[in-house]
Amino acid sequence: MTTTPTDARKPARRVGTFVAVACIAIMVLGVAAMLVWPRAAQTTVNAVAPIGGPFTLTTQAGAKLSDTDLKGKPFAVFFGFTHCPEVCPTTLWEMTEAMKTLGPEADKLKVLFISVDPARDTPDFMAGYLESFDPRIIGLTGTEAEVAAVGKEYRVYWKKIPTEDGDYTMDHTASIFLMDANGEFAGTISYGEEMSTRLAKLRRLIAGSA
Ligand code: NI
Repeated sequence: MTTTPTDARKPARRVGTFVAVACIAIMVLGVAAMLVWPRAAQTTVNAVAPIGGPFTLTTQAGAKLSDTDLKGKPFAVFFGFTHCPEVCPTTLWEMTEAMKTLGPEADKLKVLFISVDPARDTPDFMAGYLESFDPRIIGLTGTEAEVAAVGKEYRVYWKKIPTEDGDYTMDHTASIFLMDANGEFAGTISYGEEMSTRLAKLRRLIAGSA
């Protein structure tokens, strides 16, 4: 009388309970994995900060301009300085030519030239310098801190290089950044890129399909 029918069924019931618990555990782990894994993947993507970001700078007319003022309109932005001997005037001239070719289509686009040399590039000085180029090009300058912040957002490099005459020049990134109507990075135009490629990229940007 040591083994009752009840006792005999116990091991079977324990196995059944174990299987049930194991199944639930596997399901819980599966659901947890489904929830966590895409987030982990997204975190990896987000770890690389996007190009661009908020800014408020001063135009050559002395007005404030923020990234929020550009919402809904694509823009091309280039970093440089008015005392630049070659890269900046060439880029501004090429953009002027491209805008002339695009005609009224270019009105759907903003072209920004941000100074990396705000000590010399006051709004007035930029206004005089930009008279040689398309009047739709917006020159932007600010305090050293404002310019440094926007440069960091666009991952632009620049460095002050002393010249023999005691003056200085700036070594700087020469790419033009193309930003879509949502202010999101849409590509670049490299220094010296062919005019046909340049125009194709600007047309795609204006069409919203860059
Ligand atoms: Ni330059």
